[in-house]
Order: sequence, then structure tokens, then C-alpha cells
Amino acid sequence: MKSKQRSWILPDREITAEDSYLDRRQVLKGLALAGLLPACSSAPSSLLFRAPLGSYPALRNMAFQVNERGLTDEIAATSYNNFYEFSLKKDGVKDMVGDFVTNPWKVEIAGLVEKKGEADLEDFFRHLPSEERIYRFRCVEAWAMTVPWTGFPIKRFLDWVKPLTAARYMRMLTFLRPEQAANQAPGANSGYSFPYYEALSLEEASNELSLFAHGIYGKELPRQNGAPLRLVVPWKYGLKNIKSIVRIEFTRERPATFWNDLKPQEYSWHSNVEPEVPHPRWSQASERLIPDGERVDTLPYNGYADHVAQLYAD
Ligand code: MTE
Repeated sequence: MKSKQRSWILPDREITAEDSYLDRRQVLKGLALAGLLPACSSAPSSLLFRAPLGSYPALRNMAFQVNERGLTDEIAATSYNNFYEFSLKKDGVKDMVGDFVTNPWKVEIAGLVEKKGEADLEDFFRHLPSEERIYRFRCVEAWAMTVPWTGFPIKRFLDWVKPLTAARYMRMLTFLRPEQAANQAPGANSGYSFPYYEALSLEEASNELSLFAHGIYGKELPRQNGAPLRLVVPWKYGLKNIKSIVRIEFTRERPATFWNDLKPQEYSWHSNVEPEVPHPRWSQASERLIPDGERVDTLPYNGYADHVAQLYAD
């Protein structure tokens, strides 16, 4: 394609049909197994495909795998949740999301950015190829999972919406729907002031690890896991991974974040996984794998130091 179009913006007719995509996935797997595709390199972008909404699984990017432990059982990962808008009990969230409407869904893109306005989820799918990646996931409460996410690398999202040069941060906001989320209802007295908000620096957002996820275990995200679009930044504690995003705003000044505003002594703005820095009430040196409870050492930056340590060199 000549013109200014990037190679990953394909016309609709070039969307890969699921059959041929699955074939291609087998071929790629075979090539990787045969050592013909380096396991440590990303799949070539020409082989990434742009899924029509609801088409799963996406091509797995073999560069992002977790070798030292297995995947968390899917039922465990989708029934042990933190989503305070619905319930403060982890095993209660999935039973409280029944009224939560995630389709249709609009995301407002605002602030210091060229492509301002409302995008629906189909716009994301039209412009951004999806891929599957297996990441470690570490909650600040010292439990952990290993999860196959399907999503859009945020770097590609930034190339699409084009933040202005003055922009330095990306702020994200969750929905406010008191009629759908019990703890947002008037009188709920959850003790929290919603909507939930989070932020990354643009360097963090552009890091190759950062994803906007729309799927998990090769399927659409269930509502309790943050449907239809959530942040996944695996070198940070889970609390940074904001769910069900309705607004993405680009700012010059560093935006405040939900947990850091609530308890700055307990939750830092960056909330990077730092095993050597204890939480005031517990150690962060090890973590409990869900669901069996096996204890393993926590790794600096959750095992992603090679990707991100340079961001914090100062
Ligand atoms: N996003 C919103 N909107 N509300 C929340 O309560 N909890 C955070 C994060 N994102 C939360 C959120 C915390 S503390 C964690 S550990 C993860 O979501 C949990 O994600 P999971 O339920 O998919 O494992």
C-alpha cells in the first residue's frame, strides 16, 4: 500500500476470515515450534490480523509467554475478581454484573490528541489488529495469576489517535452507572468515590507490553473481568489495570489516580511490582498463585524488567 496509510490499517475486504486465520495460526505455531520463527520475536505485523468484533481466538504473539508456570484455570481467573463498583467480595463480583450493559460501548477520546471524539468498539477493531499474549498478573494484595489476554497494543492505538506533542500522560476512566453497578447506587455507602480513574505516562503507555484487552482465554472478556475494554500493564500491580474504560484523555500534567488518591502511603502513583518494597501491612516478596495457593517469589517488575526497567532509570 502506498499513501500515508500504515500497513496495519487494512480495508474491510482484507479482514482475515476466521478459517484462514486459524490455519495461519497453526502454520505459525508449527514454524515457531520448528524454530523457524524466533520465539523471542513478535509475529511479523503483516501476519497480525484485525479481528472483526467477537472473532476469537486471535493470533498468539509468541514473544509474550510465561515459561516458569502454567496458565491459571479459566474459571478461577473469571470468578476471583476485584471490581469494587459491583462488590467488594472477590467471589461475589460475577454474580453482581448481570445488569451491566457492555454492548454497545463508546469510548471518548479527549484532551491533547488529534483524533478527538467518540469511538465505538467497532472503530477500535477496524483500526487495530488484535493479538493474544500470556502475561503474569500480580495484585498488590500478593495474589497472582497467569492469563492469556487478547487485545490491542497501546502503541498502535497511539499511532491511530495521535497525541499532540504537548501530551505527556494518558488518563483513563471507568463508567459511572449507578443503575447498573450496585456500589455506585445512591446510598450504597461502599466507602469509595466512583468513577475509578487511572493514568500512565506516555512512555509507559507506548511500552511494547501495554495492552488494551478485549478478550481473555480466547474469548470476549466477561463483564467481571472488565468488559469490553480494559488496561493490561503486567509490570504494575493489578490496581493500575483499570476496567471497562469509557474515556481516554491526553494531558500535559500528571493526572491523579484512584488508589493513590485514597491511600498514598499504601499505593504509589506508579505501583510497579517491587518485591523489595513491602506494603505497610504485608510483604511483597512473594505471591500466592490462584487458585491453589502455591507461594512463589515475586520478581522485580513482575518479571518484565528487561522491557521496562529503563523507564524508571532516574
Ligand atoms: N477497575 C475498576 N474499574 N474497578 C476496580 O475495582 N480493581 C483493580 C483492577 N481494575 C478495579 C479495576 C484491581 S485492585 C485489580 S487486582 C484488578 O482490576 C483485578 O482484575 P481481575 O478481576 O480481572 O483479576
